[in-house]
Amino acid sequence: MDLYEKLVNHEEKLSLVGLGYVGMPIAVAFAKKIDVIGFDLNAEKIHMYQNGIDPTKEVGDEAIKNTKVQFTADESALKQAKFHIVAVPTPVNDDHTPDLSPVEGASTILGRNLTKGSVVVFESTVYPGVTEDVCVPILERESGLKCGVDFKIGYSPERINPGDKVHRLETITKIVSGMDEETLDCVAKVYELVVDAGVYRADSIKVAEAAKVIENSQRDINIAFMNELSIIFNRMGIDTKAVLEAAGTKWNFLKFYPGLVGGHCIGVDPYYLTYKAEGLGYHSQIILSGRRINDDMGKYVAESCIKNLIKADRTVRNAKVAILGFTFKENCPDTRNTKVIDIVNELKEYGITPVIADPEADSAEAKRLYGIEFVDMDSIHGMDAVILAVAHEVFTKLDKKRIDGFFSDGKHVLLDIKGLLNRKEYETAGYEYWRL
Ligand SMILES: NC(=O)c1ccc[n+]([C@@H]2O[C@H](COP(=O)([O-])OP(=O)(O)OC[C@H]3O[C@@H](n4cnc5c(N)ncnc54)[C@H](O)[C@@H]3O)[C@@H](O)[C@H]2O)c1
Repeated sequence: MDLYEKLVNHEEKLSLVGLGYVGMPIAVAFAKKIDVIGFDLNAEKIHMYQNGIDPTKEVGDEAIKNTKVQFTADESALKQAKFHIVAVPTPVNDDHTPDLSPVEGASTILGRNLTKGSVVVFESTVYPGVTEDVCVPILERESGLKCGVDFKIGYSPERINPGDKVHRLETITKIVSGMDEETLDCVAKVYELVVDAGVYRADSIKVAEAAKVIENSQRDINIAFMNELSIIFNRMGIDTKAVLEAAGTKWNFLKFYPGLVGGHCIGVDPYYLTYKAEGLGYHSQIILSGRRINDDMGKYVAESCIKNLIKADRTVRNAKVAILGFTFKENCPDTRNTKVIDIVNELKEYGITPVIADPEADSAEAKRLYGIEFVDMDSIHGMDAVILAVAHEVFTKLDKKRIDGFFSDGKHVLLDIKGLLNRKEYETAGYEYWRL
């Protein structure tokens, strides 16, 4: 009997190593079909899961309460599993080089607890070669087992979009790969248990690794192009959104929009690819240019706020500015790598300490990472400027009366980064309205 059948017959178990935004929903999905061990180094997180709390809001508390996942911070539990999925973070260092320490750490832990006949699948976003050249030697060293003989490996990148309730694990085609045909078949069949949209069998592990990293690089470059257009059109006094709407009537015009690119995927993954390219003697032209543009957008928004305050005859120093939204993306509590912090820091350079409201954000994380304490949106009054920074659903419902109430007398400065509001309505009402 092969491993797939043993999993389905509950004779073997699957483990998840790393239970964050990616790993936890996978664990919960698999636990509806087979036996799952969910391991994370973070004992506090495990404690929350064990108590039915979903800090990521990806599946919700109810699903966590009802799941059969065996949550544990004890690595020896991994010995009970034969099919392992690794979903640990892949951040970059301050100099933008890949920080592979979580992937290496997870490989070390897994290696120590790996048994013969196992299959290990990595899901973390990496540059081509990390699974085979970095992870396998660690797994072999720690386990004393031989890859290809005693255990097999595969790679299956994750494409979920946190906060997105439509594009979910079950509904997105999953790329799978394996070190040989037999492994590929096993990995494909296992993922087919939970991915309704089906799997795509990639040619090789490196192809699958490369596919993921270019998906996010492509998005980064396209958004960078929109951001550059926005800078140009702002100088020309043309509304970028109106231009994009007009151009978007052509069948092959790609629909991207300007904005802040934060988080740990789109703003990070391209650096994995350029790092590897650099090691091979190729210096990226397009990818790194895009990164530079996107990385500077927070500063650009803050400077635009200052210019608009001056235009509105408001005193800049100690101006009262409110920022609505702090997470790196809409409808998601995650504040890690948010670019809104760049707006905050740049405003401080001008002597402005903004107040920030974000009813969706993980406030404990924001306090821990940035020392920021949110205010209640209802307490925002008497502002000189308001920056609508994130398109959370709650903000899309704000009407003009509510927005009027945020301001003091005098000309209102409103920066609508995501273009959520009707420009004409606010301009007609005398607002100094600005958007990317
Ligand atoms: N979040 C996304 O939108 C998304 C989408 C697609 C792909 N990815 C990729 O998936 C990977 C995971 O991302 P994430 O958002 O779930 O990260 P995350 O930070 O939310 O979760 C990672 C988890 O791994 C745990 N961890 C770290 N080192 C560990 C170790 N040695 N052993 C066990 N657990 C360990 C952490 O405690 C954390 O709970 C990354 O490579 C990311 O690029 C993320």
